[in-house]
Amino acid sequence: MKSPRTDLPPDIYPDDPWQLVEDRWAPRFVYLTETIFALSNGNLGIRGTLDEGRPVHAFGTFLNGYHETWPIVHPESAYGFAHTGQTIVNIPDAGTIEIEVDGEQLGPDASTSFKRWIDFRTGVLERRTTWSTASGTEIRASHRRLVSLARADTIAFQVSLESDRPVDIRVRSLLINRQDLETDADEVHDPRRAFHFDRRVLEPVAAGFDELRLVQTWTTSASGLPLVTAVDHLANGIDAEITQIRNTDVLGFELSGRMEPDRPVGLTKLAVYRTGDPRPSREMAAASLDAACAAGFDTLVAEQQASLGAFWESSDVEVDAGPEIQRAIRWTLFQLHQASALLEGRSIPAKGLTGQAYDGHYFWDTEIYVLPFLAATNPAAAAEILRFRHSLLPAARRRATELAQDGALFPWRTITGDEASAYFLAGTAQYHINADIVYALRQYVWMTGDEDLLWEVGVELAVETARLWHDLGFYRAGRFHIYGVTGPDEYTALVDDNAYTNAMARMNLRYAFDVVSELRTRDRERFEQLRRDLEIGDDEPTEWRKAADAMYVPHDAELGITPQDAHFLEKEVWDFEGTPASAYPLLLNFHPLVIYRFQVLKQADVILADFLLGDEFSPDLKRRNFEYYDPITTGDSSLSACVQAIMAAEVGQSGLAIEHFSRALFMDLADLAGNTTDGVHMASAGGVWLALTSGFCGLRLVRGDLHLSPRLPTTWRGLRFRMTYRGTLMLIHVVHDRMSVEARGGSVSFVLPSGPVSLAEGERRDFDTSGWSESSG
Ligand code: BGC
Repeated sequence: MKSPRTDLPPDIYPDDPWQLVEDRWAPRFVYLTETIFALSNGNLGIRGTLDEGRPVHAFGTFLNGYHETWPIVHPESAYGFAHTGQTIVNIPDAGTIEIEVDGEQLGPDASTSFKRWIDFRTGVLERRTTWSTASGTEIRASHRRLVSLARADTIAFQVSLESDRPVDIRVRSLLINRQDLETDADEVHDPRRAFHFDRRVLEPVAAGFDELRLVQTWTTSASGLPLVTAVDHLANGIDAEITQIRNTDVLGFELSGRMEPDRPVGLTKLAVYRTGDPRPSREMAAASLDAACAAGFDTLVAEQQASLGAFWESSDVEVDAGPEIQRAIRWTLFQLHQASALLEGRSIPAKGLTGQAYDGHYFWDTEIYVLPFLAATNPAAAAEILRFRHSLLPAARRRATELAQDGALFPWRTITGDEASAYFLAGTAQYHINADIVYALRQYVWMTGDEDLLWEVGVELAVETARLWHDLGFYRAGRFHIYGVTGPDEYTALVDDNAYTNAMARMNLRYAFDVVSELRTRDRERFEQLRRDLEIGDDEPTEWRKAADAMYVPHDAELGITPQDAHFLEKEVWDFEGTPASAYPLLLNFHPLVIYRFQVLKQADVILADFLLGDEFSPDLKRRNFEYYDPITTGDSSLSACVQAIMAAEVGQSGLAIEHFSRALFMDLADLAGNTTDGVHMASAGGVWLALTSGFCGLRLVRGDLHLSPRLPTTWRGLRFRMTYRGTLMLIHVVHDRMSVEARGGSVSFVLPSGPVSLAEGERRDFDTSGWSESSG
C-alpha cells in the first residue's frame, strides 16, 4: 500500500547525528539533494542546486509571498468559483558561479573528489571538490553558501580556489531569471505541482552596474509586484579583468585572470532580495547589501551559529536509537527552523521555501501541524503566523459573503488571502480550516500564556469563525448539523456531518463564547469596544454556545465507532487486496468519483480529531476508531503518518506507532511520497515533532494544563526533549520506567498520570513511570 523507500546509501550519505553529508558525487540523487540541501530562513529560500548550474532537476529561489497571478479558467464555471490563481515566483537565481580553468569548464561530473555537507549547528552548506584538468593541474575548490538566519533578505555564496600550477582562470558570477527560461523539469501532470506559465512573468524594469555590484529591479507582469535584486562581490587574490554580462534574463560579471600555485583565489557573492515600494526597497536593499559586505562571510557564519545555537537550546530532541534516526530528527527540526526563523509577517507555505509545488500556498498545514511546535519552542514565530492569518480577515469576510455566509470564511489555499483553490470539492469545501485556525490560536494561548495576542487579534478570529459555523449549520430535531463540507480526508468529499469538522466547529463555537465572556468580566471597556467594532449582538455568544452544545457528532452504536460522516459507513470498503502498489497514490490513478464512492482514506480524519480533541473522546472510543480507520487509510497524503503514529502510541499499538513514525520521519530523506523533489513536506516535518512529543511522551494540553504521559517505543532506549511552557524551559527525559523533568528560567506546573506536579525554578525531579500506561488515556 505504501510507496517504496529510496534510502540514502550510507556509503555516500554516512549517518551523523548533526550533519547531512554527501561523501562523493552522486548524480542519480540530484533530484533529491536539491530539496534536502535546500536553504531558507522563512523569508528567502534556495534549493540545493549546484553553483555550476548543472546537472539540475529544478532550480528554485523563492521569496515568501512573492507571487504572480493568473486567471483560473473553468470551462464550466459557476458563481463563486475561485477565479485568480496565485503562484510563488521562482525569483532570479544568484546561485550560479561558473569556473573555467585553462578553457576547461569545471563541473561535478569531472571532479576527482567531491564532498558536500550541511551541519545543523552552522546552517552553512559546504562543499570541497578537486579536479585534475586535461593538462594535469590539480584544482581544489571550497564552496560555502548560506541563507542568513539573521538578515531576512540576504543570501551569501563563497568559493575559494587553489591550483598546483599557474593557470588561466575565468569565473562567471550570474544572476539568472530562471522563471522565464525553459526548465528541464518533466511535464507529467501532477495537481500538486506548481502552475506552469507560458508567458513572461518577470518584466525587467531597470538595471544598474557599479564595479562588481549590480542592482536589477523587476515587476511581475500580472500581479504587478516589484522586486529588487542587488548583488555584490568581494574578490580576493584575483587580479582580474572584469566584463559585465547584461542580457535580459542573465546578468552578472566575468572575471578572468591568472591563478598562481599556493595563492588561493576567493570570491564572496552577496545577494539581497526585497519586494515592496520600489524606491524604499531599492534603498533598503542597498543598505542591506552594504551591511552584508561590511560584515563579510565569516560574520554571517557566526550569526548562523548564534541563531542555531539558540534554536537547539530551546528545541532539540534526542532519541537514543542510533545515528540514522537522530540525523533524520535533527534534519527535520532544522527544516522547521529554516521555514520559520524570519517570517517577515507571513506564514509557512506547504513546502516552506524549498520548492514551487503547491504554488507556495498557505494551507491548514501550518496551523495544525507546525504551529504547535512553534508555540512550544519559538512563540514569536507562532504569533507572527496568527497575526498574518488575522491580516487576511477582510478577504475572509468577503469570501463568506460571496458564499452566502456570515462571519469569515478563510480560503483553503492562498497567498493573498483570496481563495486560490480551483477544485472546490477538495478546496473551499474544507470549511474545517476555519476551526483549525482557532484551534491553533487556542494551543498558542494555552502553551505560551500570551493573552495579549488573544485580545489583540485572537478574539476577532474566534468571533468571526464562530459566526460562520453558526450560520453554516442548522438545527434539526434539537441537534445542530453541518452539511455539505469536506473533512481533512480528501478521498471523501462533500459530505454531511463530517465528525472532524463538527467536533472542531464545536470547539470553535465554545472558544468564541469563552473568550468573549472572559473579556466581558475581565475588561469591560475592551469588551464594549469589541462589541461595537464587531457588532456583536446581545444574544450572539449564547447562540454560539447553544449550537456547540447541540452539535451532532455522529456515533455508530453497532460498531462502537465515530463514523467519518453521516453516510461513510454505508459505503463499500475499497478493494485494498486487489489494488497493486503501483496504483498509489490513488489520486494519480483514479477519477475522484471512483475514490469518493468507497471507504478509503487519503489521510487521518476521525483519528486526527481523536488526537486534537482527545479529552472529548473516551479511551475506548479512540482505540476502536483507530482500529477501524488505520487499515483503510492509504497515507497518500504526507499529513497522515504522523497522526497515525500519535494515535497508535496512545492506544497502545507501539509496533504500528513506530512504523507510522518512521514513515513520517523519512518522508523526505527516503522520498517516501515519491515527490520530495518538489520540496520538503512541511506539515509532516511538524508532525514528526508532534509524534515525538505527543506520541511518545503523551504531551497534551487539556483546558490549558500541560499533560505528559510517556509511551516510549520498546526498541528505543530513551528520548529527551526541550520545550517552553508558559515561559519556562522544560527539559524532559524519558527512559523505560522513569522520566525526569527539569524547570529552567521559571517554575512550572504540569500533570502526570500519577497526579499534578509543580517544580520550582531550577528544580529537577525523577518519576517512576512503571504502571502508568494503564491509566494514560
Ligand atoms: C492534503 C491536504 C494538504 C495539502 C497541502 C494535500 O495532499 O490532502 O490536507 O493541506 O496536501 O499539503
